[in-house]
Order: sequence, then structure tokens, then C-alpha cells
Amino acid sequence: MDNKMFLLFIFSAVLVSVEAEPVQDKQALLDFLNSMNHSPHLNWDENSSVCQTWRGVTCNTDESRVIAIRLPGAGLSGLIPPNTLTRLSALETVSLRSNGITGFFPDGFSELKNLTSLYLQSNKFFGPLPLDFSVWNNLTVVNLSNNSFNGSIPYSISNLTQLTSLVLANNSLSGVIPDIYIPSLQELNLANNKLNGVVPKSLLRFPSWAFSGNNLTSVTTVSSLSPAFPMKPPYNAIPSKKNKGLNETALLGIIIGVCSLGFAVIAGVMVLCCYDYAAGVVEPVMKSKKNEVSSKAESSGSREDKNKIVFFEDCKLAFDLEDLLRASAEILGKGNFGTTYKAALEDATTVVVKRLKEVSVGKREFQQQMEVVGKIKHDNVDTLRAYYYSKDEKLVVSDYYQQGSVSSMLHGQRREGRTSLDWDSRLKIAIGTSRGIAHIHTQQGGKLVHGNIKASNIFLNSQGYGCVSDIGLATLMSPIPSPGTRATGYRAPEVTDTRKATHSSDVYSFGVLLLELLTGKSPIYTTEGEQVVQLVRWVNSVVREEWTAEVFDVELLKYPNIEEEMVEMLQIGMACAARMPDQRPKMDEVVRMMEGIRRTENRPSSTESRSEASTPTIDAT
Ligand SMILES: *[C@@H]1O[C@H](CO)[C@@H](O)[C@H](O)[C@H]1NC(C)=O
Ligand SMILES: *[C@@H]1O[C@H](CO)[C@@H](O)[C@H](O)[C@H]1NC(C)=O
Ligand SMILES: *[C@@H]1O[C@H](CO)[C@@H](O)[C@H](O)[C@H]1NC(C)=O
Ligand SMILES: *[C@@H]1O[C@H](CO)[C@@H](O)[C@H](O)[C@H]1NC(C)=O
Ligand SMILES: *[C@@H]1O[C@H](CO)[C@@H](O)[C@H](O)[C@H]1NC(C)=O
Ligand SMILES: *[C@@H]1O[C@H](CO)[C@@H](O)[C@H](O)[C@H]1NC(C)=O
Ligand SMILES: *[C@@H]1O[C@H](CO)[C@@H](O)[C@H](O)[C@H]1NC(C)=O
Ligand SMILES: *[C@@H]1O[C@H](CO)[C@@H](O)[C@H](O)[C@H]1NC(C)=O
Ligand SMILES: *[C@@H]1O[C@H](CO)[C@@H](O)[C@H](O)[C@H]1NC(C)=O
Repeated sequence: MDNKMFLLFIFSAVLVSVEAEPVQDKQALLDFLNSMNHSPHLNWDENSSVCQTWRGVTCNTDESRVIAIRLPGAGLSGLIPPNTLTRLSALETVSLRSNGITGFFPDGFSELKNLTSLYLQSNKFFGPLPLDFSVWNNLTVVNLSNNSFNGSIPYSISNLTQLTSLVLANNSLSGVIPDIYIPSLQELNLANNKLNGVVPKSLLRFPSWAFSGNNLTSVTTVSSLSPAFPMKPPYNAIPSKKNKGLNETALLGIIIGVCSLGFAVIAGVMVLCCYDYAAGVVEPVMKSKKNEVSSKAESSGSREDKNKIVFFEDCKLAFDLEDLLRASAEILGKGNFGTTYKAALEDATTVVVKRLKEVSVGKREFQQQMEVVGKIKHDNVDTLRAYYYSKDEKLVVSDYYQQGSVSSMLHGQRREGRTSLDWDSRLKIAIGTSRGIAHIHTQQGGKLVHGNIKASNIFLNSQGYGCVSDIGLATLMSPIPSPGTRATGYRAPEVTDTRKATHSSDVYSFGVLLLELLTGKSPIYTTEGEQVVQLVRWVNSVVREEWTAEVFDVELLKYPNIEEEMVEMLQIGMACAARMPDQRPKMDEVVRMMEGIRRTENRPSSTESRSEASTPTIDAT
């Protein structure tokens, strides 16, 4: 009886949630897609929620209408079927760039009165531009470049008072340029058309390259003298290799998926800080060293797969590399495996892009490993969003954690108003991390190894528990040479080749992480006397001398009644960092021990510091 009621409740809840969908918009999208060729990766399943799961589709807040569709590089080709997209009358953003769509400018788009951004560049559209642009009085960005539009530029464009970008370059537009007076216009590109006559006075403020490649007489444009408008789009945010740059056009078809989950993480926790901040904003010089093995991989990959980012199933929003390049990318850190960037994309979405160097395996092996890692769904494991493999570039895309890595929290520059990590936070980080590693160790039939556990690879999930990232990359890379790097402080003594990490070497690295959390010291650090100290050795020697209390971070001393817990964690850390691999506990045992630390809890003071820890500082930007 009760069960039935419950089922009924669930059933009606499901019904309600289905009803809440914009059913007609969904059907319009299906009608659109079904009559076009498209990428097989598109997850537009009629039985799944259009607003929640369909890639490249965005709904309004009450999920009553679809307001944006972004399918860059989705392999769409052919004509846009009439009476499909045009039924999505609430659309504000349409991005179909970098596909193979052909035909005239879609007639029915004039129905999309709320359109603000229209990206149709790099397709095969031809014929005239729409005569009457004034039907879209909210248009702000129009990019129709790199098509075969011909005819003249309609004067009605001057009715678009909100317009900020007009890019019509690389078409076959002819006739004279109309005198478009739009004060809000910041970006204009009419290059490489068949325009003639002169540049009208209203457009003289734009630089001459915006008009180049036409048959214009006496172009007396002032070149970028107008300081009010930054003319060059901020390209090359991701720096190029010296000789062989990141080839924009070749990679134009790339799609990067970003998930709704990622969104939640980003929106949820917002504390300003950078990943591996200690590494700083390093100068963006890339080594263009080519690795020998990757050319082997090239031949095995099919032409078709080339230049496509593979993204994992629950990813929702779609972006291509063009976005990424234009995105303000900031270097978050440089590690042994390459450089990590923060890329702020459209829609305020931020992702982390890791540009791998020294990948030592071929495409197939790389893909297999990524597929294994990409399938992992766990609270304490960072979700891999997408990856990309070509001869010249290997990228992995994951979520961005605004509050930075545990390394930056422990060792990063102290900023105004930023408090140090309290004990409860450290304990949660440690417990979460142990659970994450233990879960990783169960994957791939119990064979998956993380291989690179270190504080800069640990982030905080929305509950403040540790979350492990960078899984399984170590085994794909050329071995990291021993001396120097900070990572070596985490490396188990028996590991001579970083590709041959084991479960038990992961346990060792986790032990070092625990000691780091307890002492607040880096795994390898230099004393004032310029002596290089290995954290594990130092902790062992201090404990041997029975000065145990000396090892703990002074920052922790202000929290009362935590000594027992700290000592317990110290013992676990030392057991994990045992010299002999067979003396180290297994990861699932470690989890039990870690969880045991708090079971002995009877501390009234702990709630106070815990609530403090769980209130994230909200960053207004
Ligand atoms: C959707 O669900 C219906 C009814 O359950 C089923 O007949 C249909 O095959 C499903 N469609 C897909 C694409 O799974
Ligand atoms: C267009 O946008 C306005 C303002 O956001 C909204 O009220 C209106 O419903 C939208 N039109 C359609 C057809 O959705
Ligand atoms: C244009 O945008 C404004 C708000 O920015 C909105 O009120 C208006 O409805 C929009 N116009 C159309 C035609 O949708
Ligand atoms: C222009 O479009 C073609 C396909 O139509 C594409 O191959 C090329 O890369 C595009 N070029 C630019 C600069 O976008
Ligand atoms: C327009 O598309 C071109 C590619 O043809 C691209 O280079 C440019 O950045 C785009 N501009 C805007 C404002 O979208
Ligand atoms: C126009 O085409 C040229 C040559 O293919 C290319 O370098 C340029 O980026 C294109 N510009 C736009 C805006 O598409
Ligand atoms: C535009 O191109 C089409 C063919 O693609 C041609 O029939 C038409 O005459 C052209 N129009 C102009 C104004 O050049
Ligand atoms: C601008 O819009 C107004 C009203 O919508 C219209 O009367 C006028 O003809 C338009 N101007 C152009 C150049 O299309
Ligand atoms: C360029 O324009 C001039 C005068 O406007 C014209 O005489 C000439 O034929 C044009 N050249 C081309 C290649 O269209």
C-alpha cells in the first residue's frame, strides 16, 4: 500500500517534470536535427530532458522555452529544413558556426524576434543577406563571415541600435558600403569581399584591415587611432608554439562540452584563488619538442575523427576551439605534464584546459585511458569533461574550481581576508581524497592507478571534501625525471619510472599529502640554511625524537581539542608513507581509518569551526 503510494508519487513527479518541458520546442529541434547530417555525438534523445541534458541547448529559467542553440562544429550539413528552428520563437542565441550548412540565409529567421546573437560563420551559405534587418531590433552580434553571401550590404543594418559586432568578412558582398551609423558598434570586419566605392564617414573610426581585400577607392581610414575601441579581438589567449602555432582553422571544428554539473560546481563555490597559484603566472613559452611516438598514432586515427574533441555524455553546453582561443585564458600553472589554463568561455562558463606535452602513447591508448577516466562518476573524483588528441595537441578539459587547489590553499600567497585552512577543512579534504583514490583503485577491473597524487591535484567539492583530479595521466606520459620538481616529494621511493606507478605508490603519495596537511609544509622544502628537506624524513625524525607536537602546523594550534585527531592522522600518514611498499595499507583500509578519526569525536568546539569552513566567500566577479 505504502509502496504503491510512493510509486504513484514518483510517477506523477516524473509526469510533472516531463510536462514542464518545452514540448513544442523539443519537437522543433528534433525535426531540425532529423533532416540534417550531424555529428554522431549529439545526445538529443527524445526521451531525455531537452533543458537538462541536450547538448548545445539552453532553456530559460522556468524551462518553458528554448532560448539558445549552440552547435559549433557539430558536423551539420545540407539545408536548414524550413519551419523547424523558426518555430523556436524565443531563441536569443543561434550559433551554427563551423558546419557545412548550405543554402540561402534562412528565410524564417525573421520570426526569431528576440535574437541577440547570430553566429553562422564558416558555413556554405550563399545568396543575398536579408533585406530587412530591422526585424531583429535586439541583435548585438552578427557573424556571417567565411560564407559565400553575395549582393549588397543592406542599409537596414543601421536600424540595429544594440549592435556591437558585425563581421561579414570573407564573402562575396558587392556594391557600396552603406553609411551605417551605430554608436554601439565596436567590432566591424568587412574584409575580403567585392565591395567598392569609399568607406563611409561613419565607419572611418575602424582600422583599415576591416576593409582590406575589397576594391575600395582612396581608403583614407584612420587606423586604430581610436582608443575607445579595442580593435583586434583578443586572440591567441592560448599562446602558440614557436613555429607551429595552435592551428585555429584546422581545429575549428572542435567542440568542447561543458556540463551542467560543472556549472553547479562553479556557481556553487566561489572563492577567488587560482589553481596551483604557487606556480604563478608563468611566461607562456612552449617547448616545441616533438615526441617520436605520436606520429605513429597519427596513422591509426581515421581522417574523420581528426580534430574533434571527444566529450563525455553528461556534457551540455557546446563550444568550439574558436571560443576557447578567444576566451580569456589565464595560465594557472605549469606542471610536469604541461600547462594548465583557465578558459572563461561564453555564458560565464569557466573550464580548465590542460595542454599536455610529452604524451608517450599513441592515440588509441590515450583514448582508451580517457574513456576509462571519463566514465568515473564519484563525489570525490573530478569529472573529466572532454579530451582532444591530434598530432600537435593533446588537451584535457575539466571543471574549474574557483577556490583553487589544496596546494594553493596551503601554500599560496595569503590574500586579504583569506583565512588559513582550519582543521575541519583539512580533515574533510583528507577523507574525501582517500575516498576518491580508493574509488579510482576499483576502476578498470581494479587496475587503474592515479599516478600523480599531490596537493595541486586535489580540489574541494561542493561539500568541502577533497576531490581528486588528473587521474591516470601519469601512465600516458614520458617519465618525469627525478630531481628538482616538487612532485618528486610525493613519489614513492621504489618508483623510478613515473609510468609504472602502482596502487601502493598512490598510497605513499596520499601519505605525503596527509603529512603536508598536518604540517603545512611542502613535501620538499628548503630551510633558511638552504638545506633541502624531505617532508617524510623530517616527520619521521621528529616523531622518533618524540617531539611529535612539533610537526603540526602552527596555524592548527589555535583550534582546541584536536590533538588526538591530528595524532591519529599523523599515524595514518606515516603508515601510508612507509618506505617498503608491502608495509603500506591498502587504500580501502586507509579510508576506514580516515573515517575512524571522526568517529571518536566528542568535541563541542568543532561545530563552530566547521560552520565557518562551510561558508564560502562569494566572489562578485
Ligand atoms: C522513447 O520511449 C518510447 C516509449 O518508452 C520508446 O518506444 C522509444 O523507443 C524511446 N526512444 C528512444 C530514442 O529511446
Ligand atoms: C522575448 O523576450 C521578452 C523579454 O525577455 C519576453 O518577454 C518575450 O516573451 C520573448 N518572446 C518570445 C516569443 O519568447
Ligand atoms: C529586446 O530586449 C528588451 C530587453 O532588453 C525586451 O524588453 C524586449 O522585449 C526585446 N525585444 C524583442 C523584440 O524581443
Ligand atoms: C571557412 O570555412 C571553411 C568551411 O566552409 C573552413 O574550412 C575554414 O576553416 C573557414 N575559415 C575560417 C577562417 O573560419
Ligand atoms: C566571426 O567569425 C570569424 C571566423 O570566420 C572569427 O574569426 C571572428 O572572431 C568572429 N567574430 C565574432 C565577433 O564572433
Ligand atoms: C578570412 O579568410 C582568411 C584566409 O582564409 C583568414 O585568414 C581569415 O581569418 C578569415 N577571416 C574571417 C573573419 O573569417
Ligand atoms: C549571387 O550568387 C548567385 C549564385 O550563387 C547568383 O545567381 C546571383 O546572381 C548572385 N547575385 C549577385 C548580386 O551577384
Ligand atoms: C528602421 O525601422 C523603422 C521602423 O521599424 C522603419 O520604418 C525603417 O524603414 C527602418 N530603416 C531601415 C533603414 O530599414
Ligand atoms: C574597382 O573599382 C573601379 C572603380 O570603382 C573599377 O573601375 C574597377 O573595374 C574595379 N575593379 C575590380 C577588379 O572590380
